[in-house]
Amino acid sequence: MAERVIPIVDQRAAVLAPQVPAAADCVPPSGTLLDARGRPLRDLRISVTDRCNFRCSYCMPKEVFDKNYRYLPHGDLLSFEEITRTARLFLAHGVRKLRLTGGEPLLRKDLERLVAQLAELRTLEGRAPDVTLTTNGSLLARKARALKQAGLSRVTVSLDSLDDAVFRRMNDMDFPVAQVLAGIEAAQAAGLEHIKVNMVVKRGTNDHEISAMARHFRGTGITLRFIEYMDVGATNGWRMDEVLPSDQVIARLQQELPLVPLTANAPGETAKRWGWAAADGRHHPALGEIGVISSVTQAFCGDCNRARLSMEGRLYLCLFATQGWDLRALLRGAASDGQIQAAIASIWQGRSDRYSELRASLPAEAGPGQRRIEMSYIGG
Ligand code: GTP
Ligand code: 5AD
Ligand code: SF4
Ligand code: SF4
Repeated sequence: MAERVIPIVDQRAAVLAPQVPAAADCVPPSGTLLDARGRPLRDLRISVTDRCNFRCSYCMPKEVFDKNYRYLPHGDLLSFEEITRTARLFLAHGVRKLRLTGGEPLLRKDLERLVAQLAELRTLEGRAPDVTLTTNGSLLARKARALKQAGLSRVTVSLDSLDDAVFRRMNDMDFPVAQVLAGIEAAQAAGLEHIKVNMVVKRGTNDHEISAMARHFRGTGITLRFIEYMDVGATNGWRMDEVLPSDQVIARLQQELPLVPLTANAPGETAKRWGWAAADGRHHPALGEIGVISSVTQAFCGDCNRARLSMEGRLYLCLFATQGWDLRALLRGAASDGQIQAAIASIWQGRSDRYSELRASLPAEAGPGQRRIEMSYIGG
């Protein structure tokens, strides 16, 4: 195999300065903010740390994220109070779901304190936001109860294999699968509902585990989702031949057990849902469902309603962005809530991103001087 040379340069992409309107020009948020393609803003993904205790090769390859890698100093991170203020301003624009990500979000000290602050916020409709978390599960056994008590609505755990040897290789830290499974059990025992498990499928690495994963979670109330391996970031050496199209995942499973397509729960959902069928060929709710996230073979940008806030307060409008808007400068400057809200509105209104739809017609790498953000920086 040809050796891959990865330049060690700063991964964090260029930063844009948002326009701050004069206080008198601020239009109060209406909740009906649309981007340039008519897409509403509904989902804010908040990355709370750029660190992780795993080194999954598709996300934080060891050659790049080694002992010399410079993580952000603590003072650069948004404080919980700054995150909560920002989330409140986004909720006023119609956001209903707040997802905490990382890196590994549970590495951020006292994360449950942030969860409690976010759970107290209200959507425009006066309801509690859906506060959720994507974690690698390594610390979940210890944290599940405190997170539930703080008001976490649900949790998504990343797990790429049940085979201990495969799992240890994929996380590249020799971390045992049993501890993640214990984390999932602790989440169930703590009363966290609608637990999901995300499996990134890499052809030739863990695709032989699809069936075992599906059988393991069938009938447990946990929804397993198969994610197509994506070309996110600039360091994972992505190759199309390592992507297993979701259609093939479904076809493989249907050879063993019957599955029927289900309708979407909400517009803009990343996953297509499939239900396990009983002998009569109909979906049997007790058997549960699976999902496939097909960002490579069936892009879902058409109704993408997601914005992403990095741990240092930059707003990204796409997982494949090369530039983010520096909201921290506003938060730490003298900008009022109204001014920050107006800045967010004008940023969203100018958004036209649809990377996955355009992927095939774009060059493999971002332009000169531009570098795609890493998944470990912005979360899933
Ligand atoms: P719920 O439906 O609320 O449970 O969450 P979700 O499916 O929106 O979130 P999750 O964080 O579990 O996302 C699952 C995976 O989908 C991520 O890890 C990414 O691989 C992928 N994904 C999420 N959002 C996007 C997106 O906007 N674009 C692309 N291309 N992929 C995404
Ligand atoms: N392709 C698809 N999913 C990825 N994730 C990280 N990197 C990639 C990639 N290259 C997913 C992880 C986890 C979430 C944080 O992002 O599996 O579920
Ligand atoms: Fe860590 Fe998740 Fe990235 Fe793996 S995919 S290195 S667990 S942030
Ligand atoms: Fe949204 Fe960008 Fe993902 Fe398309 S590629 S779904 S625009 S985040």
